[in-house]
Amino acid sequence: MYPTQNDRLTLLRAVESARNGIVLTDPSLEDNPIIYANPAFIELTGYDMDEIIGKNCRFLQGEDRQQENIASIKDAIAKGESITTIIRNYKKNGGLFYNELTISPVYDDKGVLVNFIGVQNDVTARMELEKRISDFYSMISHELRTPVSSINASLLALEDGSVTKLSSPGAKLVKIALSNCKRLIGLINNILDWKKLQAGKFKLQLQPWPAEEIIDTVIQEITPVCILRKIKLEKSVESTAHVVMDPERITEVLLNLISNAIKFSPDGTTISIKLKCNNDKKTRVEYSVHDQGCGIASENLDKLFLQFQQLDSSEKRSKGGTGLGLAISKAIVDLHHGRIGVKSKLNEGSTFWFTLPELDYADIIRPHQD
Ligand SMILES: Cc1cc2nc3c(=O)[nH]c(=O)nc-3n(C[C@H](O)[C@H](O)[C@H](O)COP(=O)(O)O)c2cc1C
Repeated sequence: MYPTQNDRLTLLRAVESARNGIVLTDPSLEDNPIIYANPAFIELTGYDMDEIIGKNCRFLQGEDRQQENIASIKDAIAKGESITTIIRNYKKNGGLFYNELTISPVYDDKGVLVNFIGVQNDVTARMELEKRISDFYSMISHELRTPVSSINASLLALEDGSVTKLSSPGAKLVKIALSNCKRLIGLINNILDWKKLQAGKFKLQLQPWPAEEIIDTVIQEITPVCILRKIKLEKSVESTAHVVMDPERITEVLLNLISNAIKFSPDGTTISIKLKCNNDKKTRVEYSVHDQGCGIASENLDKLFLQFQQLDSSEKRSKGGTGLGLAISKAIVDLHHGRIGVKSKLNEGSTFWFTLPELDYADIIRPHQD
């Protein structure tokens, strides 16, 4: 169907109103020059129309020609293919902008290449934000984690008495410093893990593992805090199954759930940790942690597993941390193709649970992709 003159005008008006830069080039002319540019392109680059018509778009690169994607753009154009990439460009006043550029070939009815259309999107603000975020993470990793690890190592050496014999008050102080250091390392690791998860760079080390052993490891780690708080840990195991999992990461998930339960439990109460084995392969084992704390209002249950969530302190549920613990736990369980959730009512305690499916041995080598 051929568009009418009216249709053409409507199309042109739409292109002229677009907020993205749009240019049309003619590959039948020497050096594929611009034959049309919309007002948004003029506004973005700062050039006048007569300064750009008849020129190849590469003038926007100025002297900055050592960019890897320029060759890919050239290649796509030579093959008559589409390409989307982000390239450094410069306005007429010399100002740098990051141009998220999509170039597509335009073919006529007979399949002859007649034009290229280029759509320019200024993503400078996004790129600058990404750079600031990446600088922040590298600061956490180098300027925070490295010195904290070294403080931790020194304190450990003081604690084991290999450097010098400490007085009893001295030993007490070192113990306090060590426990705070451990907390700080936990927070730093949370932030760096979250970054890896977001970037899809978090790899599981899957292997068959006795499901019960995870509980024992966590109980061993958490018992000293429970003694201080007079909290009783109750374990009930209904299954001795081996499940394919990343044991270190699943330990982290359970540790997170139990640590939260301890934070929100009154002294002298009981926390029950259960392991159930289901017939359903998709939910083969189920871990649950029940506390006798203040519970969570139903309207807040959905928010719990979102990043940086800490519930309102009026509910007395904000107790420090990064607000990433449950989000990381959910991401780890998701990577295992399991499920995680919570049942709770105000003043009736909470039960956090997660399930793990029965993964095949093939999954150890080639993790699930859905
Ligand atoms: C329709 C179209 C739009 C283009 N828009 C831009 C642009 O906004 N910025 C840019 O740096 N290059 C743009 N290019 C790419 C350059 O014109 C050129 O093809 C690229 O620099 C690779 O070729 P060269 O190595 O000969 O310079 C565009 C190309 C086409 C066909």
